[in-house]
Amino acid sequence: MRVATVEQLLDVLDGLFEGGSDLTRRQNVDPWEQIFTRPDHPLNSDLPDVNLLDWHAAGLLPDGEGLTALDIGCGLGRNTRWLARQGYQTIGVDISAFAIVQARTRTTATEATFLESDFLREAVPGGPFDLVYDSGCFHHLPPHRRLSYLHALMACLKPGGLFGICTFAAGKMGSDVDDLALLKQGKLEGGIGYSADDLREIFADLEPLDSRPLRPLQILSEPAFTFAFLSASLFRRPL
Ligand SMILES: C[S@@+](CC[C@H](N)C(=O)[O-])C[C@H]1O[C@@H](n2cnc3c(N)ncnc32)[C@H](O)[C@@H]1O
Repeated sequence: MRVATVEQLLDVLDGLFEGGSDLTRRQNVDPWEQIFTRPDHPLNSDLPDVNLLDWHAAGLLPDGEGLTALDIGCGLGRNTRWLARQGYQTIGVDISAFAIVQARTRTTATEATFLESDFLREAVPGGPFDLVYDSGCFHHLPPHRRLSYLHALMACLKPGGLFGICTFAAGKMGSDVDDLALLKQGKLEGGIGYSADDLREIFADLEPLDSRPLRPLQILSEPAFTFAFLSASLFRRPL
């Protein structure tokens, strides 16, 4: 094969990450199933990310009545359900068939919709959305697939819409190896750590609204999902 399009170049670069190193591609054995079936795994949770609660309390994230939301790489649907409970008409998408079946089991039929779909390679139905959220999917992408992600994001986020993202925090969790070295070694080291500046640079077409490490929970606050090695950023797509 000789590369003639950007999509073909991205497919060729995918070939650098073999042997299950890339967790954002469909594989014969679903690596996420092994993670989600561990009862003690932190992602086997029903709690929403604490940054969602904080953005909502600060008035940065509106109530969702009459608005739509997409949860990218929704896993078992913990954030999808929280968004639906705030009134958003919400869809969660995930490449893991196991995760989608589990998410549906944990959710009442009218609450939210779940779809087995590859966000990088398949269009999401029902968009464009007022809010797009990603907790823990983006930081698993190989460097070149950020381009596919940006393309898919801009295709499904409304002008004026919000984009929230929670990733490994640079220096706390995830690889700090630069992109060229990651491509050369063909291993993602479990995920990439991002700083707020990295994300502002990558999502340069969006207006940054907020960036914060995930708040440790204080006594008497609502139960929520939080770890010191995660940070979250919120952006708005200009009109
Ligand atoms: C770290 S888990 C986070 C799950 C969930 N957001 C949570 O925080 O509980 C990452 C999720 O992204 C999903 N994922 C990875 N690549 C994807 C892709 N290309 N399209 C859709 N989902 C993807 C995985 O299947 C997995 O469920």
